[in-house]
Amino acid sequence: MSTSRQNRRTFLKTTAAVAGASAVTPYFFSGEKPLAAEFAAKNDRPLVGQIGCGGQGNGITNRAKRYGDIVAVCDVDAHRAEQAKAKQGGGKAEIFDDYRKLLDRKDIEVVTIGTPDHWHTRIAIAAMKAGKDVYCEKPLTLTIDEGKLICKVVKETGKVFQVGTQQRSDGSRFLTAIALAHQGRLGNIKTVSCSIGGAPSSGPLKKETPPDHLNWEQWLGQAPLVDYIPRRCHYEFRWWYEYSGGKMTDWGAHHVDIATWLIGADDTGPISVGGTATHPVPFENGHPTLDNQYNTANKFNVSCKYKSGVEVIIRDDMDNGLLIEGDKGRIFVSRGALKGKPVEDLKDNPLPEDAIIKVYKGKKPGDHMGNFFDCLKTREQPISDVFTHHRAMTTCHLANIAIRLGRALKWNPDTEQIEGDSEANAMQNREQRKGYEIEA
Ligand SMILES: NC(=O)c1ccc[n+]([C@@H]2O[C@H](COP(=O)([O-])OP(=O)(O)OC[C@H]3O[C@@H](n4cnc5c(N)ncnc54)[C@H](O)[C@@H]3O)[C@@H](O)[C@H]2O)c1
Repeated sequence: MSTSRQNRRTFLKTTAAVAGASAVTPYFFSGEKPLAAEFAAKNDRPLVGQIGCGGQGNGITNRAKRYGDIVAVCDVDAHRAEQAKAKQGGGKAEIFDDYRKLLDRKDIEVVTIGTPDHWHTRIAIAAMKAGKDVYCEKPLTLTIDEGKLICKVVKETGKVFQVGTQQRSDGSRFLTAIALAHQGRLGNIKTVSCSIGGAPSSGPLKKETPPDHLNWEQWLGQAPLVDYIPRRCHYEFRWWYEYSGGKMTDWGAHHVDIATWLIGADDTGPISVGGTATHPVPFENGHPTLDNQYNTANKFNVSCKYKSGVEVIIRDDMDNGLLIEGDKGRIFVSRGALKGKPVEDLKDNPLPEDAIIKVYKGKKPGDHMGNFFDCLKTREQPISDVFTHHRAMTTCHLANIAIRLGRALKWNPDTEQIEGDSEANAMQNREQRKGYEIEA
């Protein structure tokens, strides 16, 4: 190991010890800078590999380079990898077309994963097993079983894992909404409506020959081997159940996650999930019958009931955001707004100074990526840990299973099984293409 690497290791060990002490007195109380700022200041920064070089992969890696050095980029589309190399690491990043080769680089300590959803779990598990800490985009999983596997591997490896649900670090809106609820300003919470919009329809799409720069077979990964349709691929993969869950998981990963946190259910789940939906193509036994059009739900209204009596409704038909209703008041929160009488009342009756810090696990909220890099030093799990995200995603996946089958489900959050419906329960998992199976 080189001297600079040794120095960095010593630094990490020392700062971890300091951070351990600061668990009693949070580091920011006296206006100190977040720990992650030290990475930037000391030129002693973790080496980072970027896996998936589309819009979001590039976006998160841009944020990661405040704290670490981007030394490798990987994509199955050579054009996208070239473009990312030009932007990252001063044009010096090494290019890979296979994430496994990037993970073989022992000097890389951190990876960002910005691939489509059907690749997240397999790459994340391989990365942790290769000794890397992980920042992975939401929705973390394609199925409920993937969530169980990823939680197991985080526990086994002790790797630090942040999910890219950045609303969890938004102090002025989402965290204030949660703090208002937790401080009793809304009374007993009765209903949380998560409005996340519906997926578009595409109409029939033509099969084409994949471009030379794209390895379509690799892009498909665990999903069935099918002919290339450009709108199955970059960005548009969201509207196909083969690779994603439509709006239910794309935006559910954000708003249902906030709802789950707010109602104190992020270590449990609903006991019943059911509702109505329309899909752009016909379905049989939970599967689309056409293979040339988007297939995720255009419209839906799904009720998720908890043992506590709280109802979370996932719907497409209101303004994007969460409407939180208690027996003493209600508020609406979104990426652009926080409103309602309890919010107006804050002028005369502000929240206690530490109310938001309490929500944010004893830390000061700010940059979501910074929270991840802080945790690389403290070895704590970041604010969007896999365990809570798995619970929120389970609710979204259950909602999709319910609307795909067209019937309500009974969920046991303790055993994590769908009860009395073996067909639905089997949909916790799905067949993975040979060579791309996910194992923990
Ligand atoms: N946190 C947020 O607010 C937010 C916003 C947008 C997207 N996202 C998430 O980010 C992810 C990516 O979304 P996007 O819009 O950037 O998609 P995209 O299709 O534009 O980019 C994904 C990239 O991953 C590459 N890829 C596919 N398989 C790969 C593999 N095995 N190895 C390496 N690269 C591979 C693709 O070729 C593509 O370049 C999605 O999971 C999405 O839900 C999160």
